[in-house]
Amino acid sequence: MKVDVLLGLQWGDEGKGKVVDVLTPKYDVVARFQGGPNAGHTLEFEGQKYVLRSIPSGIFQGDKVNIIGNGVVLDPALFKAEAEALEASGHPLKERLHISKKAHLILPTHRILDAAYEAAKGDAKVGTTGKGIGPTYTDKVSRNGVRVGDILHNFEQKYGAAKARHEQILKSLNYEYDLTELEKAWMEGIEYLKQFHFVDSEHEVNNYLKDGKSVLCEGAQGTMLDIDFGSYPFVTSSNTVCAGACTGLGVAPNCIGEVFGIFKAYCTRVGAGPFPTELFDETGDKMCTLGHEFGSVTGRKRRCGWIDLVALKYSVMINGVTKLIMMKSDVLDTFDTIKACVAYKVDGEEIDYFPYDITEGVEPVYAELPGWKTDMTKMQSEDEFPEEFNAYLTFLEEQLGVEIKIVSVGPDRAQTIERYTEE
Ligand code: GDP
Ligand code: IMO
Ligand code: MG
Repeated sequence: MKVDVLLGLQWGDEGKGKVVDVLTPKYDVVARFQGGPNAGHTLEFEGQKYVLRSIPSGIFQGDKVNIIGNGVVLDPALFKAEAEALEASGHPLKERLHISKKAHLILPTHRILDAAYEAAKGDAKVGTTGKGIGPTYTDKVSRNGVRVGDILHNFEQKYGAAKARHEQILKSLNYEYDLTELEKAWMEGIEYLKQFHFVDSEHEVNNYLKDGKSVLCEGAQGTMLDIDFGSYPFVTSSNTVCAGACTGLGVAPNCIGEVFGIFKAYCTRVGAGPFPTELFDETGDKMCTLGHEFGSVTGRKRRCGWIDLVALKYSVMINGVTKLIMMKSDVLDTFDTIKACVAYKVDGEEIDYFPYDITEGVEPVYAELPGWKTDMTKMQSEDEFPEEFNAYLTFLEEQLGVEIKIVSVGPDRAQTIERYTEE
């Protein structure tokens, strides 16, 4: 069997959580491979809304195994809060959630360092989620990290050494902080975590594949936030792209099957950094209002703009996307005209490839298509799609060279339409 990967093609918040939940019945296992509680994956069904940060979005569909892979960074305090809330709402997870021993722990001092580094950057700050993501991955790469498996071996000493090193850095930055409450909650989180299955997830996943079981990998963030290929330095600190599933779970590249690339019918970004198609007018405000574009973790207003096909083409290429999924189509239901950026104008010249730097001087060149002016939120099948909406889909497919297999017309699990396939 192969591993299928579902990942965001834009700047995150494309709707990954919703679609993983929808696709889970087709799989035996769902696994997260990177990121941490910077993610906020929203699911809605039966009138309830859930936001997941570290727990995979396959947790609600029967007794599927859900794995937090080695590429993930885990904050025990936030994990405890998330897990307890799920259990309290009638969704047991202890038996079906497995956590890689190789996943790195986000320490309380990592969160403080995140805030200190942002403060030191001043106007150049990244606008991180403040969850300690960057400092934790930095420690991982510099071989100073503390892992989930360390909880069982010599933990006090490893935690103490990392904390002391962080406190030295904070002192050198003259950064004032109070660790007491954070550390208390964190230690409670460590105790809570001990009830879960700590696993060698690379063995587990490969054994599942050998036994003919199917695995869906759930990406966090989006390709434009990837540490290598995103709009650096305004990115997160992990590989959000398809290759991240190989390193973040221990699956070989030739084990990758379908790559589901997910995007919004328009585009959003939260935090700082370049965004060529960003709108600062009423149209952008309308997208924000109709799309409820406020961060599910930080509550921050998301910046909105038209779809950027130059960036999307790049994402499709980097990830080897085999199937596209378009989200939030309904948000554009009332627009007279839909715009799509098909090229950038840089120094007076039109380019259709994603350049090294998009920080300045990138002007979007738009194609315009007629809006569909129809309420799509109750539609059940593609037979109901208005002509103009079909024209938008066809236009995007031609531009991106990959078929759009799923269209989402609302936040609920049921508001999802699979398109006919001819395979
Ligand atoms: P993720 O991080 O990629 O899982 O996405 P988020 O959960 O952060 O953000 C997506 C938001 O859009 C959530 O509030 C979802 O409930 C909502 N959503 C998902 N799909 C649709 C859709 O098709 N239409 C509308 N209107 N909202 C959607
Ligand atoms: P999901 O999985 C949107 C952004 C932050 C910031 C940058 C770095 O819900 O799509 P970090 O805390 O990772 O160091 O922040 O990345 N960011 C996200 N934006 N969705 C996310 O996750 C994000 N996770 C991080 O806003 O600009
Ligand atoms: Mg999100």
